[in-house]
Amino acid sequence: MSIRISSSTPGNFPSVRGRRLRATAAIRDLSTEHRLHPAQFIAPLFITEGEKVKEEIPSMPKYYRYSLDLIKQEVKELYQLGIRSVLLFVKVSDDLKDNEGTEALNPDGLMQRAIKTVKDAQPEMCVMTDIALDPYSSYGHDGIVESDQIVNDETVSVLAKMAVSHASAGADFVAPSDMMDGRVAAIRKRMEFEGFYNTGIMAYSAKYASCFYGPFRDALDSAPGFGDKKTYQMNPANIREATREAMLDEQEGADIIMVKPGLPYLDVVRAVRETVSVPVSVYQVSGEYAMIKAASEKGWLNEEQAIMETLISLRRSGVDLIATYFAKEASKLINS
Ligand code: PBG
Repeated sequence: MSIRISSSTPGNFPSVRGRRLRATAAIRDLSTEHRLHPAQFIAPLFITEGEKVKEEIPSMPKYYRYSLDLIKQEVKELYQLGIRSVLLFVKVSDDLKDNEGTEALNPDGLMQRAIKTVKDAQPEMCVMTDIALDPYSSYGHDGIVESDQIVNDETVSVLAKMAVSHASAGADFVAPSDMMDGRVAAIRKRMEFEGFYNTGIMAYSAKYASCFYGPFRDALDSAPGFGDKKTYQMNPANIREATREAMLDEQEGADIIMVKPGLPYLDVVRAVRETVSVPVSVYQVSGEYAMIKAASEKGWLNEEQAIMETLISLRRSGVDLIATYFAKEASKLINS
């Protein structure tokens, strides 16, 4: 059997030289396969009660919790940088937490007020909200607890009401991050019933039980009070399960499918991208942020380069949108 050698086979040196495409800045620019744009970023925002509050999160250096009065300016700045979407999280005080996450449905709750405030400050911004019970749960779990179990169907019915509550406050997208079964279908059905046809769903479809959420749980004081989240979040050893979850959520009506965390799961992003036809997003999570910040504070990594290299790696893996705590910094770098 003869092997056909085409003219582009690397063996044809010196006709073929890979370095020609790397020789100047211009040709490197021309042959760039992937680029970053601020409109591809989703900026997560942490909101807290009070006035003039801007609190740094200890495990997330230079990332802050803002009170509502200060969030307005922040959102306007993000929009001016070209960012088109924010993802809201609220820190709820302990006395408002219970097992059913009752406060999540309060029409005058912090999240509902935050949605209105952000929409008011920058109406063009796409406002996305987290749907899960953990910030409201006295157990710090994403769902209702009965006899140490996280009960699925009871939780889903609260999540659907929560989604409608956020939609009524003006949210453009709801982002269920709880990993309960059937929640996308239930949320879609309830929102249709209530007339919120244009409120989208970004489903955290492949969300792994990851240690990289640690700093986020500090930010919201939402660490589980007992056990872990392994009966609902996914096993890091699995990838077929991710494409299965993504397909189910797409069929249930998800408009955007998310994979989370980011960098340790690039193969999952690729597999999900090839499985569904809706946009795919990835969440570069709090622990990924903390790693880069910590190493660069020590002078062990160049921070700007680490930010841009990880973000472009996420794009290369096939993702359309990136939720990242570096949204602002990266947008400034891109624009400069
Ligand atoms: C809540 C939620 C979490 C994150 C996003 N939504 C934490 C968790 O599931 O424990 C993590 C985000 C991050 O680490 O940056 N369900």
